[in-house]
Amino acid sequence: MRISVIGCGYLGAVHAAAMASLGHDVVGVETDAAKAEALSAGRAPFYEPGLPELLTEAGANGKLRFTTNIADAAEAEVHFLCVGTPQSKGSYAADLTYVNGAVTALLPYLKPGALLAGKSTVPVGTAARLADLVAEAQPSAHLVWNPEFLREGFAVQDTLHPDRIVYGVPSAGEPGDAQRAEALLDEVYATPLSEGIPKLVTDRATAELVKVAANSFLATKISFINAMAELCETTGADVTALADAIGLDDRIGRKFLNAGVGFGGGCLPKDIRAFMARAGELGADQALHFLREVDAINLRRRTRMVDLAREELGGSVAGKRIAVLGAAFKPESDDVRDSPALNVAAQLQLQGAEVVVTDPQANENASRVWPTLAFADSAEEAARGAELVLMLTEWKQFRGLDPHDFGQVVAGKRMLDGRNVLDPQRWRGAGWSYRALGRP
Ligand code: UDX
Repeated sequence: MRISVIGCGYLGAVHAAAMASLGHDVVGVETDAAKAEALSAGRAPFYEPGLPELLTEAGANGKLRFTTNIADAAEAEVHFLCVGTPQSKGSYAADLTYVNGAVTALLPYLKPGALLAGKSTVPVGTAARLADLVAEAQPSAHLVWNPEFLREGFAVQDTLHPDRIVYGVPSAGEPGDAQRAEALLDEVYATPLSEGIPKLVTDRATAELVKVAANSFLATKISFINAMAELCETTGADVTALADAIGLDDRIGRKFLNAGVGFGGGCLPKDIRAFMARAGELGADQALHFLREVDAINLRRRTRMVDLAREELGGSVAGKRIAVLGAAFKPESDDVRDSPALNVAAQLQLQGAEVVVTDPQANENASRVWPTLAFADSAEEAARGAELVLMLTEWKQFRGLDPHDFGQVVAGKRMLDGRNVLDPQRWRGAGWSYRALGRP
């Protein structure tokens, strides 16, 4: 099929490459010329395992090209909308500038019978509004919402082997033909991608809500265990043992019960805030009051980490050298958007500490956001002469550190494990003062 992907960030670039790998003819439209050029040359503009290989292969097969010109999407039968919906400046609401801009720019190029499939995470009701615009410009075109659940770091795998596929199609009386739209999407996601994968066909509002509900649930699960960590800290209990025990109940499950410095990234934080804002607009804000607490618990973990650092260093971090392991919001990513690690590093610096950060992939992005922080190429280099080390993004390079060897380079063997990934006995056995969030 001929496919266009509008917006080639974390979501769109992976989607475009994945669709090309299935044999479709794909054009990716990206307004940032430098990004479009990099992608054309087979270079991913961000770190995502497996993406460069997919880009190179699809490019070599002539199945994938990138452009800055939306007119190049005119031949496509299916257009995937993959632009960002960041948090608005000054409010919790999602900023729909890119969504609105992309759809408006695409309207003149919609062929008769074309399908526009929204993948971006949007406030519920957006699809219905956009469908009216599409119907006005091209009455035989269809608009569906087809949310994407990929995780950064596993984006290629998640796109090619999803847990489920959700189609939000027009309901009776709404513009667009639900059956035709479903058939077109089925053709896009033909075997092998869809083999054995549950497919749910819903109305458009439900599909929009599935995405934000899933992310809200995940955020709630993390904040729940972090709230338990707060209680563990006041009672001397161990949150990791608690998570193991409750996680064995398969109604609860152990995944996403890792207590620590909390969630960040370009999705969970802004999605729960945009969901609250949208509920407020709909007069249903009470239903989502709990998400305020989810957000507050999450942010409190960062402050707690800074407080622990101060405690460990005798009441003040001013003038003290501190090594921060991690800058990305999670391992296997170079994304520093709303990163807990970077936030803690910045708070410590603002309190007068001499902070050196290291991240296997995110140093460059982090230094653009916080140019005043110092960056090092390795954990050893960051920790040389440090009086305190903070583990804030659990890259395997950091999890595998040897406490004996690592202890040689520091000035003070103090470890604060903000991700609960190190073995307390092993680190204490090597002479370290080891403290963690939610563990005795
Ligand atoms: C998330 C959703 O998982 C994905 O389905 C959606 O499409 C986009 O948002 P992502 O932002 O890539 O994906 O990261 P995810 O792996 O979900 O982690 C989010 C944050 O939660 C990270 O900062 C991570 O460190 C943190 N986290 C995760 C915890 O603190 N504890 C956990 O147990 C799990």
